Amino acid sequence: MCGIVGYVGGREATEFLVQGLRRLEYRGYDSAGVATIAPPRGIQVTKSTGRIEHLDRLLAATPSPGSIGIGHTRWATHGPATDENAHPHYGGEGAVAVAHNGVIENYQSLKDRLIAEGYRFRSQTDTEVVAHLIDSQLKRLDPAADIAAVDYQPLFRAVQLALRQLQGTYGLAILFRDYPTVLVAARLGSPLIVGVGQGEHYVASDASPLVGQTDRIVRIMDNEVALMTADKLRVVHRDQGPVRHLVSVLDADSGGAELGGFAHYMLKEIFEQPEAIRNAMRGRLDMDAATTRFGGLNLSPQQLRQAKRLILTGCGTSWHAGLVGKYQIEALARVPVEVEYASELRYSNPPLAGNSLLFAITQSGETADTLAALREIKRKGYPTMAICNVVGSTIAQEADGGIYLHAGPEIGVASTKAFTSQCTVLAMLAIYFGRLHHLGYDAGLRAVEELQELPGKVGRALETGEAVKRIAEKYAQANNFLYLGRQFNFPAALEGALKLKEISYVHAEGYPAAEMKHGPIALVDENTPSVFLIARDSVYDKVMANVQEIKARGGPVIAVVCEGDRRIRSVADDVIEVPATADFLQPIVSIVPLQFLAYYIALARGCDVDKPRNLAKSVTVE
Ligand code: AGP
Ligand code: GLU
Repeated sequence: MCGIVGYVGGREATEFLVQGLRRLEYRGYDSAGVATIAPPRGIQVTKSTGRIEHLDRLLAATPSPGSIGIGHTRWATHGPATDENAHPHYGGEGAVAVAHNGVIENYQSLKDRLIAEGYRFRSQTDTEVVAHLIDSQLKRLDPAADIAAVDYQPLFRAVQLALRQLQGTYGLAILFRDYPTVLVAARLGSPLIVGVGQGEHYVASDASPLVGQTDRIVRIMDNEVALMTADKLRVVHRDQGPVRHLVSVLDADSGGAELGGFAHYMLKEIFEQPEAIRNAMRGRLDMDAATTRFGGLNLSPQQLRQAKRLILTGCGTSWHAGLVGKYQIEALARVPVEVEYASELRYSNPPLAGNSLLFAITQSGETADTLAALREIKRKGYPTMAICNVVGSTIAQEADGGIYLHAGPEIGVASTKAFTSQCTVLAMLAIYFGRLHHLGYDAGLRAVEELQELPGKVGRALETGEAVKRIAEKYAQANNFLYLGRQFNFPAALEGALKLKEISYVHAEGYPAAEMKHGPIALVDENTPSVFLIARDSVYDKVMANVQEIKARGGPVIAVVCEGDRRIRSVADDVIEVPATADFLQPIVSIVPLQFLAYYIALARGCDVDKPRNLAKSVTVE
């Protein structure tokens, strides 16, 4: 997610900072900024929404001199993309400047405390608490002490004490007005690398900004704090003593790290799914109450309990996530759910029960049809919620409340991590509504425990990549595919088929597995593979019978099954095993090989995976 750079040395810092931020652009961002120090002037911050070009123009008009500085590209999680919310953020009255990637979960309680201490907040970000916290620790340093003479130990200590109060994730780069030769970086959960040059040090979120500057790097690990001057680097553990850091040599081909080493954004985003799912759940699981919780619904449990019907709407992949949500919510909460295409809902004027509640599901938050459907339902006086990835997007703003995915920027046109994050959020909603109604403590707890294991299981599903690649090459020339699944896995079949259509231009139909004998089975022949999603669930035997029906007609079968399924091997032509999870979470694990299948078939057919023909990432027209 987004990017951080830092520099301390003998050159003008902004030269590296701006160029470094450009190299990190691929990560996606909505605003950018830099801070430098040129004594005796204090820390100078230049920042704005929009592209790096714009920041560069601002710096050309009003230069930010200094041979120490930090830079940031922001992908908003707390507070919309505005100039004020862009990083770096000042701490205190300018004694500190901080650039941050990640999310501070306990920012609200820290903010309340800092306000009580007299701190004035200029932004709506969670990040600003970090800046003020560090400032409040610095204020306790003895002003008469020669901090540099004692190897900056007290400064280290102040940062350590501030960081210990943070819950959440961070990659941080920090400047200090009163110590203008010192740059500090810290990491918990967000990547950070230090580059070691001749009389200079660099900080970057990944190796790409360092290429051409230095090939000697130190990878900062979780809970480590690095303090560097032009010619010295020291690393300490946040809670313990000094850490011996290893300098390693950057691979020569890291230049291609524009995509963090991945060939395409889609592949990168497939691999980001465990982390994205973790982010979607962060701070939202309540083990004590055996339920989930959400900060932004803006309705009380009493009001939510009154909702007797949920309407889920969206387009494309987001609509598929809605369909997964219907199965999840109806199974766990027994609240009736309708799933509507937003493009239909906006004009269909459906008769809705008085106590209906709408959830608009959208990665971008800008899809025209979804926005129109939300406005239409809102106009009729129903409460509306957004399940959205992009903070501050139009739909996020117009909905009465909502849930952010925190999946990080999704750049690949074919949605992958947004889908699994949406399904995860909907699973959490299913538990939440379940616990409002009839779901007991034990069942709630089991469901939450299954959720906790989900990122690990999705991580294991990623190990299928190589095997799926071989299967993809085998079937790459087929011109028709069927994707079949039942119950929770039926929407995953639809999503698998959509992925293939979008990026490889191969015709694919998703169907409920048993429904195919009412028509689509006529398509089956030796050149039409059927991709089955088979879970160890209540319909296992039924789906196995559907597999036989396809085999009896000579159709090749590719089966995605749960680990240890022996029965399938004698029937299917190709088998892909994924970890088993609870039924309501299985589509989130089982979709992973289908994403790979589409990806590798597209590659084998020579298609441009990240820029598929005719498609746009965000469909802002009707
Ligand atoms: C997904 O792979 C598609 N590119 C598309 O169907 C997408 O999901 C749809 O346009 C909805 O977008 P949204 O989630 O940003 O609203
Ligand atoms: N949570 C911070 C914000 O919203 C940082 C986001 C980022 O990683 O860019 O400003």
